[in-house]
Amino acid sequence: MPELRESLGYRYLQATKFDREERGGQLPPAIQRTERCKTYPKAEVVELPRVWPKEGADLLSILQHRRSVRSFAEADISLQELALLLWGSQGISGQAGSFLFRTAPSAGALYPIETYLAIQRVAGLAPGIYHFDVQGFRLERLAEMVPGPPLAEACLGQGFIAQAPVNVIWTAIFRRNMAKYGHRGLRYIMLDAGHICGNLLSTAGFLGLSGCPVAAFFDDEVNGLLGVDGQEESVVYLASIGRKG
Ligand SMILES: Cc1cc2nc3c(=O)[nH]c(=O)nc-3n(C[C@H](O)[C@H](O)[C@H](O)COP(=O)(O)O)c2cc1C
Repeated sequence: MPELRESLGYRYLQATKFDREERGGQLPPAIQRTERCKTYPKAEVVELPRVWPKEGADLLSILQHRRSVRSFAEADISLQELALLLWGSQGISGQAGSFLFRTAPSAGALYPIETYLAIQRVAGLAPGIYHFDVQGFRLERLAEMVPGPPLAEACLGQGFIAQAPVNVIWTAIFRRNMAKYGHRGLRYIMLDAGHICGNLLSTAGFLGLSGCPVAAFFDDEVNGLLGVDGQEESVVYLASIGRKG
């Protein structure tokens, strides 16, 4: 292992610090912009219901009781519960001009994170890999398969991932953020992902569901399952969600 100060991560942090003298003179990064939202126009779509439960756990109790759970009951999640999990983590909650704001904050309102789902047991949905179309508030089915076992393998063999009714997988489209913020943007992308996962876990708590965040995975194996290239777009984080078993 390299000494801390020689490590790539440490050098990255040093090289991307804002500096009072240099900042004003920095050129904007020569990175082309890209589209703000991703959709899969050829995919079969599943509309998500917008029926929110009137009652659930209160915020302080959700925070008090949140624990990472790695054992799930064999019960289904309902489509309504899944819809609320997606709204709570990445739903549209406001607009200013052409900016659509979401339930989780994002540096520069650039929203570089895309949400995919490895669905195993959601009532009324075939198991498979889905993409969340944020603006359409619907799912796009990318592949019909039982995704838990290969996803668990891609996550260093962590068995609870194969059991979970739903695994929410977040990728980043780096260009969306880095065309504005350059190298420093990578920090913001990871912070965005953390906010989204925090919102997801709190929403899960509201619904009486539990989850576990996961960052230990073979990146390109997860990318392969999702069909993303690992260059422009790559997995950054995921979370297993279900009823505690
Ligand atoms: C960035 C991040 C990555 C994590 N990755 C994993 C993981 O790959 N596998 C796992 O079982 N738990 C993972 N966890 C969960 C932590 O182990 C857990 O949050 C920690 O032990 C504290 O326990 P608590 O969440 O129950 O409070 C991760 C948590 C975070 C924040």
